[in-house]
Amino acid sequence: MSNNNSSDKPWGGRFTEATDAFVERFTASVDFDRRFYRHDIQGSIAHATMLAECGVLTGEEKQQIIDGLTAIREDIETGNFNWSVSLEDVHMNIEAELTKRIGITGKKLHTGRSRNDQVATDIRLYLRDAIDEIAAELTRLQQGLLDLAAREADTIMPGFTHLQSAQPVTFGHHLLAWFEMLQRDYERLLDCRKRVNRSPLGAAALAGTSYPIDRELTSKLLGFDAPTGNSLDSVSDRDFAIEFCSFAALLMTHLSRASEEIILWSSAQFNFIDLPDRFCTGSSIMPQKKNPDVPELVRGKTGRVNGHLVSLLTLMKSQPLAYNKDNQEDKEPLFDAVDTVRDCLRAFADMAPAMLPKRDKMRAAAIAGFSTATDLADYLVRKGIPFRDAHEIVGKAVGYGVQSSKDLSEMSLDELKQFSSDIENDVFDVLTLEGSVAARDHLGGTAPNQVRQAVERNRALLSAR
Ligand code: ARG
Repeated sequence: MSNNNSSDKPWGGRFTEATDAFVERFTASVDFDRRFYRHDIQGSIAHATMLAECGVLTGEEKQQIIDGLTAIREDIETGNFNWSVSLEDVHMNIEAELTKRIGITGKKLHTGRSRNDQVATDIRLYLRDAIDEIAAELTRLQQGLLDLAAREADTIMPGFTHLQSAQPVTFGHHLLAWFEMLQRDYERLLDCRKRVNRSPLGAAALAGTSYPIDRELTSKLLGFDAPTGNSLDSVSDRDFAIEFCSFAALLMTHLSRASEEIILWSSAQFNFIDLPDRFCTGSSIMPQKKNPDVPELVRGKTGRVNGHLVSLLTLMKSQPLAYNKDNQEDKEPLFDAVDTVRDCLRAFADMAPAMLPKRDKMRAAAIAGFSTATDLADYLVRKGIPFRDAHEIVGKAVGYGVQSSKDLSEMSLDELKQFSSDIENDVFDVLTLEGSVAARDHLGGTAPNQVRQAVERNRALLSAR
């Protein structure tokens, strides 16, 4: 029977007037959800296959549907598909086109299914692909950091607390700190993937369906780990998208921290690294400028990703079971979070390993600022002085250094002895930068030896992926 109603919608049966033109545009999602046409078709093919397996469709009907959907996918990919706002979303656009092409069989595809479980399936399929791409990009960045850390295991730079010179560290060690942050992000991403990878298909509108469906089969056909456990929850749950955005917000927070350091380091004031020209742009008025645009943009984009997390949390807050149209609002934040994270990782994976450290400048900065003061205190402790007293003694020596513009290592033995008679000639071994970093030779310490071991440990982690 053809649609004999005042609406041309697939759901128009009970309506007596056409949708208001503005409401049609206001409620439509096709402009953004057409992004997952591939996943929609993938889900429909699995659904039709299952329906035939269960005797709801004939084998011939199934084949017609699969051929029709496959042809539609090709047409979408080659730009030969007319998306229509009046058909609301990606699901109805594709289904209507299928029916146009294969006739009455096309109308049978939606048997035992609703757009509610359909869209939940599509987002999960889409997000699973996105996660796999992002995981690969994250791994590429981590790999690049390990390579650079291995090359810079012996490079000495100042380590900071409160952005004040604190103790010397190795540049390789600093890069490995970034690696650790990203490693936790990777673990969070994979953990999130487990909850993404469940099949809601078969939940139908909210209560399940009266057809003899096989949810295990569609789950398997789509590569999901298992079907979800409750139909009401299946159509309303967007936790997995919130979890992804939470992963994304933390990852971006980490990238923003690294960006900030790259920006500082490439400034004339720090002058620790040179950022290759291909990652920078100039100024239209100041000819001398070379701006670190890439890390600045990554730092800036953190804001929008954090915003998407808050959007999705707020979207879900207080929603009664089961599906509500509110959930159509999940897509744009999720898509933008995926795009932003993917682009930022790509930029970072290209840029971070290409940083050119200025080793002499880093070293000079590490010498300034009494960065070996703790080493002198530790030296005094080894001579039998309690740590608090040693701290006091070294504080006085630093005060003298500030007045006389001398680093600890530049003072003569006699000058140092004014502060403690326990100081001997061997003090100069610990006051050197190399002595200071080499002394921190334990798991997680900054010694070059430890940096090399950590690089090897982490390489093994990456190659096990
Ligand atoms: N475009 C809708 C969404 O993204 C699809 C589900 C619509 N379901 C419904 N009952 N109106 O959520």
